[in-house]
Amino acid sequence: MGRLRDATGRDIRIEAGSDLIGLPSVVTVACFRIIQEALSNALKHSAAERIDVRASRVGGLVRIAIVDNGKGFDVAKAHARACRAGGIGLLTMRERVALAGGSFAINSTPGHGTQIHVGIPLGGADSLASPVANAASAVGAGAP
Ligand SMILES: Nc1ncnc2c1ncn2[C@@H]1O[C@H](COP(=O)(O)OP(=O)(O)O)[C@@H](O)[C@H]1O
Ligand SMILES: [Mg+2]
Repeated sequence: MGRLRDATGRDIRIEAGSDLIGLPSVVTVACFRIIQEALSNALKHSAAERIDVRASRVGGLVRIAIVDNGKGFDVAKAHARACRAGGIGLLTMRERVALAGGSFAINSTPGHGTQIHVGIPLGGADSLASPVANAASAVGAGAP
C-alpha cells in the first residue's frame, strides 16, 4: 500500500499485491497503460481530493480499480465528443482491454466521482484466438 500526496494536496492511495510480480509482460504492459491513463485523467480532469488505485490478482484475472471522488462527467457525451475530435484516452483504454480479452466498466456521475473497473485475464494472448469478437467489442458492438 502506497500513499502519496501531490503538490496540490491530493491524497493518492495505491494498493498492489506482490502477487502481481512476474505476470506475463503483455498483461503487465496492458495494466500499466490502463492505470496510467485512468490516473492521469483523474489528476487532470476530476479535481478529486482522493484517488484510489487498486490492483490485485483474483483467480485467472488481474483486477484493477481506479476510483476518484471528483466532479465526475457524462461518459456518453465524452465518448461522442472523442469520436468527433480527439480525446482518445478513454477509447484507447477500452480498446486495449478488449484486445486483451478483458472487461471494462466505467461509472461516472457528474458531482459524484468516477469509478473504473477492469479485469484482464492472465491468459491474455490466448484470447487473441478470437480477434473478431475482441475487435467488435473494442468498437462497442458487444458480443457477436
Ligand atoms: N476521472 C475523470 N473525472 C472527470 N472527468 C473525466 C475523467 N476522466 C475523463 N474525464 C472526461 O472525459 C474526457 C475524455 O477523456 P480522455 O478520452 O482521456 O481524453 P483527454 O484526457 O485527452 O481529454 C475528458 O476530457 C474529461 O472531460
Ligand atoms: Mg485522457
